[in-house]
Amino acid sequence: MPHSDTAGQDVRAVLSVANISKSYGSRLILDDVSLDLARGELKVIIGPSGAGKSTLLQCINGLAPPDAGQIALEGAPLDMRNKHALRAFRQCVGMIFQDFNLFDHLTALDNVSIALRKVLGLSPQNAAQRAMLELDRVGLSGRCKLYPAELSGGQKQRVAFARALAMDPKILLLDEPTSALDPELVGEVLEVIRSLAKGGMTMLMATHQMDFARALANEIIFMEHGKIVESGAPSELLAPGAATRTMDFCHRLDLEI
Ligand SMILES: Nc1ncnc2c1ncn2[C@@H]1O[C@H](COP(=O)(O)OP(=O)(O)OP(=O)(O)O)[C@@H](O)[C@H]1O
Ligand SMILES: [Mg+2]
Repeated sequence: MPHSDTAGQDVRAVLSVANISKSYGSRLILDDVSLDLARGELKVIIGPSGAGKSTLLQCINGLAPPDAGQIALEGAPLDMRNKHALRAFRQCVGMIFQDFNLFDHLTALDNVSIALRKVLGLSPQNAAQRAMLELDRVGLSGRCKLYPAELSGGQKQRVAFARALAMDPKILLLDEPTSALDPELVGEVLEVIRSLAKGGMTMLMATHQMDFARALANEIIFMEHGKIVESGAPSELLAPGAATRTMDFCHRLDLEI
């Protein structure tokens, strides 16, 4: 049963993305994309290279403002032209990138604490304390003094999670968080995401880790040419013998499902 208010909006939605479009030059990259994320949901986006998965995530967090459409957080529509509102919104939306995006000249601890000091205005002691707590949660408090170059890919990505989580985000956007990792390091990062999902974090994640998606995602969203062409529960889209775009894509890419 959908929970709707009188305007027909899903009142459980933490994030509501309605009719987003985005062009680069004359190329339409996102074409009328809509989705909702309910509290505690994990939705997974898959689709071929160039489908617009990263662009969609970047539009949602304001890194690449959409040309049309509406984004709302907990029912409050965001005015992307309002810098103050955009900054406040981005504090609530954590982002995890494929290539970690850490500051190379800062230690793991400083990578996590810098926004706590500069954005939230915490004292250096309080910021460091909170950062240590978050690093501890991802099993890295013992490496807090190391620089990114001294960490493995999996450890760097876990620092990125600690940094995002330190800001107490309402949702996390994850753009292929494991695809830059050596295969043996993928598991430790998926474990962090698994424990966040179990803890009720609301997440939208581009990934081709289909066995993970099957086990944990509430919904799989298949994108192609800037459109959502299929969406549904993993049990439906990945059912043995299902004639779905998702299944076809997984077979073509030889993805484990
Ligand atoms: N800043 C940009 N300027 C111009 N074109 C861009 C820009 N960013 C993305 N594009 C184009 O938009 C299209 C979608 O790119 P996007 O990175 O969103 O795809 P993707 O689904 O994330 O692909 P991948 O699986 O390779 O990560 C591509 O054709 C890409 O070349
Ligand atoms: Mg991408």
